[in-house]
Amino acid sequence: MFNIDLTGKKVLITGGSRGIGRAIALELAKAGADIAINYVRHREPAEKVAREIEKLGRQALIIKANVGDDEQMDSIFTTIDEKFGKLDILISNAASGVLKTIDDITEKHWDWTMDINAGAFIPLVQRAKLRMPKGKGKIIAVSSLGAIRAIPNYTLVGASKAALESLVRHISLELAPQGINVNCVSAGVVDTDALKFFPNRDEMLEVSKQKIPAGRLVTPEDVADVVLFLCSELSSMVHGQTIIVDGGYSIRG
Ligand SMILES: NC(=O)c1ccc[n+]([C@@H]2O[C@H](COP(=O)([O-])OP(=O)(O)OC[C@H]3O[C@@H](n4cnc5c(N)ncnc54)[C@H](OP(=O)(O)O)[C@@H]3O)[C@@H](O)[C@H]2O)c1
Repeated sequence: MFNIDLTGKKVLITGGSRGIGRAIALELAKAGADIAINYVRHREPAEKVAREIEKLGRQALIIKANVGDDEQMDSIFTTIDEKFGKLDILISNAASGVLKTIDDITEKHWDWTMDINAGAFIPLVQRAKLRMPKGKGKIIAVSSLGAIRAIPNYTLVGASKAALESLVRHISLELAPQGINVNCVSAGVVDTDALKFFPNRDEMLEVSKQKIPAGRLVTPEDVADVVLFLCSELSSMVHGQTIIVDGGYSIRG
């Protein structure tokens, strides 16, 4: 059995305080990494996960910043420079967005959703790569099945995730020669706080439960497991891919 050892690695996880980001933070900390947790509004969950990371004997930083705002993003990297001095792994996980159907969508909704979910990936990568040791680094974005499937109310977020997956491929083409792996993990429905904003939450969970060939919902930890693999040397020849973690939901006819 392979033992994935991330001791000494410095990681930034956007939206690392809750849900899938939290599970990734804990999984990578268990493998030995020190973690910078970014959040935007709710400090308490960020403090809680930081304490859990510290209990594992790792360093935890808490950084409040809206990834959709360039100046605030700069503040993330100022803290990383001061406290970590380098960055080995970037996990672009934070997401937001407006859940509306076609007649109610405005340009403002489009800009907000695209800026945070797709646009922010560009300045994040630009800043992260400068801090990665020469010839190596891992960048992982978190996407969803809405990038390749149609989900009621998910129009804008789905489009933003499709853009994100395309950015992953194109940026990977540029960074693979520099030894940086850029990949994406796309999840099926995961029962996190994010689902509370879906008017059809209960139906989504029920349909997923019924239709997932593997027989259960995807958990945040299922997603974190694949992220851990992508952070390890086991995935050194995986570049520009989107790995789907959905218990087989999307392969159904
Ligand atoms: N849940 C699902 O079914 C599902 C399925 C597939 C993919 N995903 C993807 O997985 C990722 C995490 O989703 P989740 O369900 O775990 O979400 P969640 O539980 O709602 O957590 C969202 C996290 O992102 C942070 N955040 C939101 N907007 C931000 C911004 N502008 N700048 C910085 N941080 C921000 C939040 O901070 P605050 O607490 O301060 O607001 C929180 O830490 C997202 O990319 C999502 O699209 C989710």
